[in-house]
Amino acid sequence: MASPAAGVVVIVGSGLIGRSWAMLFASGGFRVKLYDIEQQQVTNALENIRKEMTFLEQSGSLKGSLGAQDQLSLISGCLNIQEAVEGALHIQECVPENLELKKKIFAQLDQIIDDQVVLSSSTSCLLPSQLFAGLAHVQQCLVAHPVNPPYYVPLVELVPHPETAPATVDRTHALMRKIGQSPVRVLKEMDGFVLNRLQYAVISEAWRLVEEGIVSPSDLDLVMSDGLGMRYAFIGPLETMHLNAEGHVSEGSRGSGAFSCQTAVEGRMSAETRQAEKADAVPVRAPCEATGLPYRESRSVESPAPNPTTRDQWGAGQSSWRPGAWPQPRG
Ligand code: NAI
Repeated sequence: MASPAAGVVVIVGSGLIGRSWAMLFASGGFRVKLYDIEQQQVTNALENIRKEMTFLEQSGSLKGSLGAQDQLSLISGCLNIQEAVEGALHIQECVPENLELKKKIFAQLDQIIDDQVVLSSSTSCLLPSQLFAGLAHVQQCLVAHPVNPPYYVPLVELVPHPETAPATVDRTHALMRKIGQSPVRVLKEMDGFVLNRLQYAVISEAWRLVEEGIVSPSDLDLVMSDGLGMRYAFIGPLETMHLNAEGHVSEGSRGSGAFSCQTAVEGRMSAETRQAEKADAVPVRAPCEATGLPYRESRSVESPAPNPTTRDQWGAGQSSWRPGAWPQPRG
């Protein structure tokens, strides 16, 4: 566990997400300054966190090795941004999803931070190039997008600005691991990042199936909650395909019906990609840090898993994803 002396984390905005981040960083032993422009918000946040932590401790679900009291003593409220950022190692911005507001705050922070701190946004969908363009400290900036509720859902998408220093991403990755989160590196910015792109693809197909009268809305949801979702809680789609690949594809290509697994899955990869994969003589993916599953280390080039790296290789260009076209599900 990190020592409180290891550094201070500043949360800018003490609403729903800011509170959750504060609890996570305190669970890792970090001193947390919870900054907001509204005193009442800070007061409410501290009270809410106290109740949550007490309840979590009583129910045996409190994260970290410190007790609730010790964790609570690490969190303090703050209404002065200059004081808040003094000596901070990481600043996590959590103000409402409004580009102009966030840009204003980052411009303000840019004036008062040193060269050591990481400046990170919780934004669900604003791109780093929109948020951080022109900042003197742009190399220290990135998006660290949590999933609601962050205290219970570990995924964090790390999305760099084109000018973000690799060390900034590495440092944030390590910090997230330290507080028990599961960071993923989004290698370049893209609308929807990764989680929401997958989410939208599922929503799009769900609507199509319901619209075409294939299944009722409630049964559609059951397919996910009592079927696919259960699988995906443990194993991702690429891992599933890797384990299923031979049977899945050949069964599809026997082609009894209009739907072919080959079309739906393999056909979404371009011929060039498959060709490139065959020629690829190195292991396809890095070992799985999250699950520690040995198969990833042992997979050989004779049986490579699909490893698409660009949007078009998965046919994402053909999907009905259009930024802003749908209501935003909370990421
Ligand atoms: P919220 O509305 O609950 O909290 C926003 C807080 O920011 C409020 O306490 C408000 O007083 C404060 N604030 C407003 N202007 C400020 C300023 N100039 N300086 C400091 N504080 C200021 O918002 P929420 O839901 O916590 O969202 C925060 C960010 O997290 C957004 O960018 C959102 O997209 C992102 N996010 C939200 C998720 C969700 O499900 N709510 C999930 C993942 C990310």
